[in-house]
Amino acid sequence: MIRSVVLGCGGYLPAKIVTNDALAKTVDTSDQWIRQRTGIKQRHIVAEGETTSDLAVAAAKKALAAAKIEAGVIDLILVATTTPDNTFPATAAKVQARLGAQGFAFDVQAVCSGFVYALAVADNFIRLGQAKKALVIGAEAFSRLLDWNDRATCVLFGDGAGAMVLGAAEGKGSKADRGILSTHLHSDGAHYEMLYTDGGPGTTGTAGHVRMEGKEVFRHAVQRLAEVAEEALAANHLKPEEIDWLVPHQANSRIIDGTARKLGLPKEKVILTIAEHANTSAASIPLALADAAAKGLIKRGDLLLLDAMGGGFTWGAAVIRW
Ligand code: ACO
Repeated sequence: MIRSVVLGCGGYLPAKIVTNDALAKTVDTSDQWIRQRTGIKQRHIVAEGETTSDLAVAAAKKALAAAKIEAGVIDLILVATTTPDNTFPATAAKVQARLGAQGFAFDVQAVCSGFVYALAVADNFIRLGQAKKALVIGAEAFSRLLDWNDRATCVLFGDGAGAMVLGAAEGKGSKADRGILSTHLHSDGAHYEMLYTDGGPGTTGTAGHVRMEGKEVFRHAVQRLAEVAEEALAANHLKPEEIDWLVPHQANSRIIDGTARKLGLPKEKVILTIAEHANTSAASIPLALADAAAKGLIKRGDLLLLDAMGGGFTWGAAVIRW
């Protein structure tokens, strides 16, 4: 059977760093509050004029270099983003042109679950033989959606991009195969009002700002992430101890701790970048992967469990053998 094997990954963070202390000068918060409640110490923020496609292209070039392949052989580009450069066309199409790639390109919108959703879409195209080499990118200039007077949300997010190159390869169909072993997606639109932007091109004609019921989102996230992680393990007949790395969406270190605890995974097996990156929405998982791969933590043959939850609500997981 055809598997989507990871050929390389890369990340890019904007140069500007905003620490918690710097934020505390403009909004009523403190480094202590933010660290204790979320695990965040700082976030990267886009420069004026720097866009999601700039971040996506920079991350994609690093992923292509790591995979040792030219952009010209890529036949599918997916950009998971909540902050496209324009309402249309898709940011992915712009990235395709800037990289000189072939095939087809489109955006995927599932907010913080966007990368897991895009990974699932790419995996299905590859398995069906409709793409051979895919570039899956999570990229966000999320700071542009923030109300910088709302301390309950503006301290949580950051900007960045991560990319992964996938290639079709023959597998035996067993859990020993390299590549994406399975993906699991869910959504429940009934909770729309717990996490949304108060605007959009089809309503206010503006992008709007992030609005969130933090406590409720937290409660749902802990429950849904544990459920989908268990679903992903069961689908592959895996025990939690067989997982080498949990690579979760980086929203809140307490949510991540909760998922790891429910799975019985020690914290040494959890990739954590939230302290430096904050929540970069669709970019957080590929950024964490790129960071861990660059540090030599994740090695060929390792078994990874990715999970994410975001607005919609959307949530999902993927099991990958590196
Ligand atoms: N600085 C200081 N005080 C603050 C801040 C801040 N930045 N934000 C809120 N507070 C205050 C509140 O006003 C409240 O004060 P009060 O008790 O006087 O009313 C107090 O702190 C507690 O506020 P809560 O919202 O109850 O704090 P909580 O412990 O729930 O933590 C947080 C808030 C961090 C947002 C948490 O609910 C959370 O992480 N939720 C998940 C949301 C999330 O991660 N969303 C991202 C997208 S979805 C996803 O990726 C899962």
